[in-house]
Amino acid sequence: MKGTVMTRIHINASTPYDVVIEEGALQRITDYIKPLKPNCRVIIVSDSNVAPHYLDSVKANMEHAGYTVCDYVFPAGESSKNAHQLIDLVEYMAAQSLTRKDLLIALGGGVVGDMAGFAAATYLRGIDYVQVPTSLLAAVDSSVGGKTAVNLEAGKNLWGAFKQPILVLCDPTTLNTLPDMEWKNGCGEIIKYGFLDVPGLLTQLEHKPLIKHRDSVSAVIARCVQAKADIVEQDERESGVRALLNLGHTFGHGIEKASHFEVHHGYAVAIGMVLMAQGAVKHGELDAAALEKLKALIEAHDLPTTTTITKKEILAAAKHDKKSEGATIKIVVPTSYGHSELKVVTHEELATYLD
Ligand code: NAD
Ligand code: GLY
Repeated sequence: MKGTVMTRIHINASTPYDVVIEEGALQRITDYIKPLKPNCRVIIVSDSNVAPHYLDSVKANMEHAGYTVCDYVFPAGESSKNAHQLIDLVEYMAAQSLTRKDLLIALGGGVVGDMAGFAAATYLRGIDYVQVPTSLLAAVDSSVGGKTAVNLEAGKNLWGAFKQPILVLCDPTTLNTLPDMEWKNGCGEIIKYGFLDVPGLLTQLEHKPLIKHRDSVSAVIARCVQAKADIVEQDERESGVRALLNLGHTFGHGIEKASHFEVHHGYAVAIGMVLMAQGAVKHGELDAAALEKLKALIEAHDLPTTTTITKKEILAAAKHDKKSEGATIKIVVPTSYGHSELKVVTHEELATYLD
């Protein structure tokens, strides 16, 4: 990793905030938090993989700056993103007598960010929180935009709330400890952004696949965050264009669920994009050459393009998807290499995309 350039992207949401991307930002965390919350108690929420690397130093920095800090660490993994774990967390927050003036810091990947964000959204009807994404996927996607949730037995992210953080502080040096598999996981979401009117990102990734050219990660994160900001600012609560961010997710969520989360989110999104693109080719909505380019890009990032999960299982999960409204479901169809469109189809029509 090179340089210490700081990028600040302002998100003009109902509660505006900045996303700061800076190598070494964790060492300077209090410089960013002090102006926003000079005096308060702080809870740092993290998971069992991330905490051993970063919790002590973040906690020490905050305490050194005068904050009283407690922490809550839960077992790493998607299976922890559930209602029981959430309740344990908010019970702990109550036991610590945290008040409405206090602050939660979500230190981790998308699982920590989604669950801790939901705790912040609902504890005492809402307290401020800061997202500190430590996975590539969280840096480019889940830490930005204010979607928080836990999974229910019936499906992914079914119990949640919109709650924008007061700051997103991304320190790309934390990715040095991220396992290779999780780098690839993040690349699934990154390729997705290319299909949301950022074709230049696709070209860049073709020439320099991120998994081999990791020194470009800060710039790639900034590009994805800007793309997400542009969409979230138009449609914060997903009544329209924000649904485009779900490219690859309709089938992807089904694959995640049917595999009992053995297939991780970004991998499932990669497969989901290919399945939807194959369906789009069959429906005459996408050029076959664009599908081949998408597959090649996904393969260049060492991600899968096929699954052994059955069509029946994928479609069953789609029925429980949040984009499903009775007989119809809103899907995201790639219509050219670098562009996608929203479409409302019946569940029967959706099945024809998987034929
Ligand atoms: P994750 O949080 O489980 O992180 C992946 C793995 O990497 C975990 O084992 C974690 O402990 C580990 N890890 C994270 N940072 C690390 C680091 N720096 N060093 C070592 N290990 C580290 O999963 P994820 O891929 O970050 O996020 C996936 C989750 O995000 C899913 O639940 C998905 O639904 C959600 N998501 C939410 C949104 C949103 O808008 N809210 C968007 C996309 C995805
Ligand atoms: N990752 C989907 C969204 O933020 O809307």
